[in-house]
Amino acid sequence: MPDTPQISELAVEAAVQAALAAIAAAPDTAALKAARSAHAGEASMLAQLNASLRDVPNDQKAALGKLVGQARGRVQQAIAAREAELAVAEEQARLAAETIDVTGIPVKQAVGARHPLTTMMEQMSDIFLAMGWEVAEGPELENEWFNFDALNFDPDHPARAMQDTFFIDPVERHLVLRTHTSPVQIRSLLERELPVYVVAPGRVFRTDELDATHTPVFHQMEGIAIDKGLTMAHLRGTLEHIARSMFGEGARIRLRPSYFPFTEPSAELDVWHPTFTGGARWIEWGGCGMVNPNVLRAAGIDPEVHQGFAFGMGIERTLMFRNDVSDMRDMVEGDVRFSQQFGLVV
Ligand code: DAH
Repeated sequence: MPDTPQISELAVEAAVQAALAAIAAAPDTAALKAARSAHAGEASMLAQLNASLRDVPNDQKAALGKLVGQARGRVQQAIAAREAELAVAEEQARLAAETIDVTGIPVKQAVGARHPLTTMMEQMSDIFLAMGWEVAEGPELENEWFNFDALNFDPDHPARAMQDTFFIDPVERHLVLRTHTSPVQIRSLLERELPVYVVAPGRVFRTDELDATHTPVFHQMEGIAIDKGLTMAHLRGTLEHIARSMFGEGARIRLRPSYFPFTEPSAELDVWHPTFTGGARWIEWGGCGMVNPNVLRAAGIDPEVHQGFAFGMGIERTLMFRNDVSDMRDMVEGDVRFSQQFGLVV
């Protein structure tokens, strides 16, 4: 049996004060649990003083019992009070750590839009694909021979002059930014077996100043068909179909005699736009004609056996008249709000 401490008011009060100090100093529930076991547990000073009650004379038992009992009561109360205090503080700390600021500025990913010129070229290509044609591409940086010579331009044709064409340094390399999509005619004829039915949408360049109706970078849709026995009637029928597909069933086309070095005969292509906002009217849409025999020869094709037609139209013009865009600058400025108004489909 170990020695038990002597019960005295002083000893009891010292044990209580030590307990209260430890309880008050406990910074969290884990520390409080340790303080409880040290000052109110089985091995604590108060528990030992309590055990000593067995040995005190009977006449002091009641008074000392009350003394120790009250002391243990005070300590238990202090533990319970501190426990409640710590529970509230810990709950508040957890809530603070989990707080989400719902008034914060969200990081928004802006939604872009495809450019209406791109979607329009795809739509026109689809109309030709549905007729069994193929879609071809050519380089924007083009050899002068493809852009001019093979298309039967004279060496001194005015379109070659510096005011129209972007020539690339050094001039001896004979590279130009293509001034039209017509060089893809030659590339397609050289690359493919006959018959050829090809459209080529793409970007072209001329040294124009940017204003409401001109831009130095614009788009065209080229077409060429070479087969046996093709006539201007086939050309007309094809153009009428694309015109109706783009401008509605009421659209008509008109061919006006003209001149292009790569077609003979040549014509300007106008389209009758029946639902144009400013009132129904003719619109200059592009050029066309029967492929010049010199072009066929440049591509190694015998013009006595194969013939065909070609055409080229402006995509910007199509968008302007079909979708009521009055200023071409809106098409090149890159403001997403311009593209967004057309949605996914033009
Ligand atoms: N390349 C001509 C231009 O840019 C347009 C054109 C006219 C294309 C007649 C053709 C055509 O295929 O046959 O002005």
